[in-house]
Amino acid sequence: MKIAVGSDHAGFRLKEQVCKYLEGQAFTCKDLGVFSEESADYPDLALAVASAVQSGEYDYGILICGTGIGMSIAANKNTGIRAALCGDPYSAKCAREHNNANILTMGSRVIGPGLAMEIVVQFLNTTFSGGRHSNRLHKIEKLET
Ligand code: RB5
Repeated sequence: MKIAVGSDHAGFRLKEQVCKYLEGQAFTCKDLGVFSEESADYPDLALAVASAVQSGEYDYGILICGTGIGMSIAANKNTGIRAALCGDPYSAKCAREHNNANILTMGSRVIGPGLAMEIVVQFLNTTFSGGRHSNRLHKIEKLET
């Protein structure tokens, strides 16, 4: 599974930990930045990761900023992107099962690394249920046109 990962300065440290974890689990992890704690604008990184997922080259994206909110708002402006801000593993599970989310966003100033890793594991190990949830996603797709 190929994962594109990005953060702004606030999410940099947690993003580094997430990438290290993913690589240890034999995921292909593409780190799209940032590469330091120098101030950065989260929409730039959201666009980079959203584009990587949109293109089909990466299966999922993970975006981290201070709250996860800005990344979620920016990523969801991109057609075909369903970015879910998750602060607990149950939400991460439902984001995949019900919403077929293709990008996970998290807030590094909200959750610690242990919880973040549990959220990542749950997100990447849950499949979309389909069925009634597909009909709902089709309605969302119609909003994009
Ligand atoms: C940066 O200070 C902060 O605004 C950003 O990381 C994020 O929380 C925005 O939603």
